[in-house]
Amino acid sequence: MSDAQLDGEGRLRHFLTLEGLPRDMLVRLLERAEQLRKPALGGAVLRDTLAGQTVCTLFFEPSTRTRSSFQLAAQRLGADILNFDASTSSTTKGETATDTLKNLEAMGVQGFVVRHKEDGAVAALAAAAKPDTALINAGDGRSAHPTQGLLDMLTLRQAKGDDFSKLKVLIVGDVRHSRVARSDLHALRTLGTGEIRVCGPQSLLPDDATLAGCTVTQDFDAALAGVDAVMMLRLQRERMEEGLITSLADYHRDYGLGTERLRRAAPDAVVLHPGPMNRGVEIDDAVADGPQSLILQQVGNGVAVRMAVLEALLRR
Ligand code: CP
Repeated sequence: MSDAQLDGEGRLRHFLTLEGLPRDMLVRLLERAEQLRKPALGGAVLRDTLAGQTVCTLFFEPSTRTRSSFQLAAQRLGADILNFDASTSSTTKGETATDTLKNLEAMGVQGFVVRHKEDGAVAALAAAAKPDTALINAGDGRSAHPTQGLLDMLTLRQAKGDDFSKLKVLIVGDVRHSRVARSDLHALRTLGTGEIRVCGPQSLLPDDATLAGCTVTQDFDAALAGVDAVMMLRLQRERMEEGLITSLADYHRDYGLGTERLRRAAPDAVVLHPGPMNRGVEIDDAVADGPQSLILQQVGNGVAVRMAVLEALLRR
């Protein structure tokens, strides 16, 4: 785990990765997020929690879910929120991310939610930040998307209970380029998941330690047998240009989840997808919008999880 993530007393200082995050801390965040579900969806007001604090969403890559849910989470905890738009900022004139951060810090921002295309970029910014500034990784390169990992675990707990040792979980698709998959894998291991299966074309599977301890296959039909949860990943279409898949039609045939295929999973299996979805490529409409889909529940849980993380980092 990043040394920068915990302070000398073992408390969260930044939230950069789920790798090595102690189990009790992970579970506490999930339990707090569960408590915050009503306020997260606008059912109660907690505006004193972060009153007087300012949170900036500093996104150097596009986002719908993560950015919006962090904004709502910060607002519902009473923080001021500053939305930084990289496309209209002085980064287009060559200003660095670090100088951008330091300038916003100088305006009194205490919390930064950062998305960046480069692996390790958020940890590097955390290292450059003032001691009382907190950074949250909202996705860096292919490394980590820790709040997505948390909200996926919260959604699984709500559907299947908190004993992950009983669960068979399957992750499908472009694992090689997926920061979501990496964060999910760290969390699933920490929570003691009974069996973690990973499936995708060889060209989209990582060849490093990412899949340690997982059952790995390229055969989607076989991988689905009896699983309790299927976590679909977005096919990053740009990978086609790199020649890593032959065509969208081939990908759909081999790795697309439709209702017929889903019958191979346990009858009460649930389906997750982090979004954005490529409908008709990795997932069919009938599954995405069907009774086993938890995809919009994941999105709602995103607000609660992000409230829990903001509260843990910024409540004075
Ligand atoms: N799941 C996710 O990170 O979605 P966005 O890219 O829309 O934030």
